[in-house]
Amino acid sequence: MKIGIVGATGAVGQELLRVLERRNFPLTELRLYASARSAGRRVTFRGKEHVVEALPEGPLPVDVVLASAGGSLSKQYAPVWAKQSIVIDNSSAWRYEDWVPLVVPEVNAHAVRGHKNLIANPNCTTAILLMGLYPLHKAFKAKRVIVSTYQSSSGAGASGMEELLEGTRAWLEERPVVNRTFAHPLPFNVIPHIDSFQDNGYTKEEMKVLWETQKIMGDYGVKVSCTAVRVPTLRVHSEAVTVEFERPVTPEAAREVLAQAPGVELVDDPANRRYPLPLSATGKFDVEVGRLRKSLVFDNGLDFFVAGDQLLKGAALNAVQIAELLLEPVAG
Ligand code: A2P
Repeated sequence: MKIGIVGATGAVGQELLRVLERRNFPLTELRLYASARSAGRRVTFRGKEHVVEALPEGPLPVDVVLASAGGSLSKQYAPVWAKQSIVIDNSSAWRYEDWVPLVVPEVNAHAVRGHKNLIANPNCTTAILLMGLYPLHKAFKAKRVIVSTYQSSSGAGASGMEELLEGTRAWLEERPVVNRTFAHPLPFNVIPHIDSFQDNGYTKEEMKVLWETQKIMGDYGVKVSCTAVRVPTLRVHSEAVTVEFERPVTPEAAREVLAQAPGVELVDDPANRRYPLPLSATGKFDVEVGRLRKSLVFDNGLDFFVAGDQLLKGAALNAVQIAELLLEPVAG
């Protein structure tokens, strides 16, 4: 399989390279694309130097395009690339089209079948939520879900991480803290504003969690309300989740389900201070799930906490897992 990465110099693009290496992905050729600014940059992959190319106008000479260079670029170019390649798009540009599969392999790998050369990678917060929620949904059927997020700076790409680091230095040195990527200075702050505000008062990031949870789980009856908050961490999105289920549930039964769930690491031993944390989930393929307890609000309810590396399960890892599904004859 010849692979092309569009946005190869970005935060997700860099992770895509590492994930392809870590998973020993059977690629025969790798082409790296970014803006003209980055053309000529050298990147080492599997011990060999690769040169970053300026993204050309037309189709790309690869079997699979892993695109992570923003929504407007994908909106414009994904149909062009899809003439000749299968496109796995990390942006939100195509996710809500009925004909575009939106895939978390642990949840709906089957949706890849019948793709029309364009497959969407979900929103990072949703992918991480579903790693904990979907196994419990299968076992106990979720009715209502309330999520509050703690999203890291890298959700806004490499510039978000840089703004947090530089802003922290500036704060400590008592210089002015400049914010360009975030709506407010992020160091020593939390910002309940990610993406644009909608007419209903929710942000688009919050609505994505509803729209994408329903589409990926294939259940449009489940209700989801989200408050999305940016916090001053570098990587990993954490989420506090409350779920009301149709069927009776106990924390013990939920733990048993999660202990078997692929891609989940159950980290739930509060007496020994073991629970999901951004620092322990950084760089990990598995999403940490813990703090399971019976809800004090809903009869068949559970509260829990998840932490997942959103550059990995929320982006690069999930995209590579989708590419791996394409290697399987049944999904091709
Ligand atoms: P570049 O580094 O040359 O600007 P991030 O999400 O971390 O901000 O990364 C965005 C990625 O998308 C980078 O690799 C960036 O390349 C790439 N990119 C941005 N605009 C374009 C464009 N017009 N054509 C090709 N790649 C682009």
